[in-house]
Amino acid sequence: MQNFDYYNPTHIVFGQDRLAELNNLVPQNAKVLVLFGGGSVKRFGTLDKVLSNLGDRSVLEFGGIEPNPQFDTLMKAVEIVRAEKIDFLLAVGGGSVMDGTKFIAAAAPYEGNEADLLTHGFGALPISTSIPLGTVATLPATGSEMNKGAVVSYNGGKYPVMSELNYPKFSILDPSVTFTLPKTQVANGVVDAFVHILEQYVTYPANTPVQDRTAEGLLKTLIEVGPVTLAEPENYEARSSLVWCATWALNGFIGSGVPQDWTTHMIGHELTALFGIDHAQSLAIIQPSVWKLRKDKKHAKLLQYAEQVWDIREGNDDERIDSAIAKTQEFFESLGVKTRLSEYDVTRDQIDDIVNALEKHGMTGLSETGDLTLNISRKIIEDAYA
Ligand code: NZQ
Ligand code: ZN
Repeated sequence: MQNFDYYNPTHIVFGQDRLAELNNLVPQNAKVLVLFGGGSVKRFGTLDKVLSNLGDRSVLEFGGIEPNPQFDTLMKAVEIVRAEKIDFLLAVGGGSVMDGTKFIAAAAPYEGNEADLLTHGFGALPISTSIPLGTVATLPATGSEMNKGAVVSYNGGKYPVMSELNYPKFSILDPSVTFTLPKTQVANGVVDAFVHILEQYVTYPANTPVQDRTAEGLLKTLIEVGPVTLAEPENYEARSSLVWCATWALNGFIGSGVPQDWTTHMIGHELTALFGIDHAQSLAIIQPSVWKLRKDKKHAKLLQYAEQVWDIREGNDDERIDSAIAKTQEFFESLGVKTRLSEYDVTRDQIDDIVNALEKHGMTGLSETGDLTLNISRKIIEDAYA
């Protein structure tokens, strides 16, 4: 097991009808900016409930944070936070709203050029303060409700933004608030959470049975409840398990002390930035091909995954690994998420654009060992296209 720090201060408030507790969770004298997306929270009444539970605090609203939140949009909120001396941010929405709010929290007190905050990759931001924030999470997928990360879109790229100061103070997770999600977003959520776990689990053995057994349990839960919650959107128990799985997939626990990959995410980000393919759809396209091209590097963990998650015990090593890759791809497809790049509006010659974007963004040494070159990325994308 590698050395690690595990720190996660987010207070999770899980369950139905708990929005009234906002009154205790948000500091009493705070001036609050409530942030949301394109309007789903207005349409389905969540915003009204949030506002009515903020008591007589001074509250402003900022709507219009788009999926894959754009730097320019977020900067408009930064101006409001500064001008109005906002001292608490409340994100009501999915990963994009939560991530956007984290960026705003860091950027508002920042005295330098805010775009510089996008240049630190997975390293910690060089900040000493940020505006405290809470979330009401409406989409189970990213884990943003209980982690320190955000992803911001800027000039045709997607940039990670990480800071321990950006953990939400609290996140309200009411599974019934997610009942209104369209099926595509529910399927996206299952796939995103699934791939988060894979990126931290299918690397190389590092004597981490606690993290591995937890990862396997989360994967099996997603395989079990994913189809149920898709078919029965108002099945509270199934949706609860999806919500909690998505949170645990990326709250730092299973990633502690283990090697991590993130190749699928880094290539996937370019597909979203270039072609507008949803985040989870981009992962379903790239992930099986990463394994096909990296079977040798991931041999032991792929065998473990085959046996522990899919109960594949027949055949030689190669057959079991191939079977696990096929099962994973079938699982994504069974949720209605396509796994071939050619099924989207992308032509084969645009593979060059993807590789060029990876190069431009410095993604030239990916994977758990840093040896996944641009050339291998090209092969992965070509395989994913076919
Ligand atoms: O904008 P509104 O109108 O609210 O509609 C949203 C949006 O169109 C809708 N929606 C959300 N909750 C709903 C709902 N519709 C009906 N009922 C509800 N309860 O869903 C659409 C997608 O929302 P979005 O927030 O974009 O989706 P998601 O949660 O998948 O977030 C994706 C973003 O998170 C980043 C991605 O890169 C992407 O920008 N990620 C963040 C991570 C993190 N912070 O740790 C890790 C992930 O790997 C990921 O990269
Ligand atoms: Zn993701």
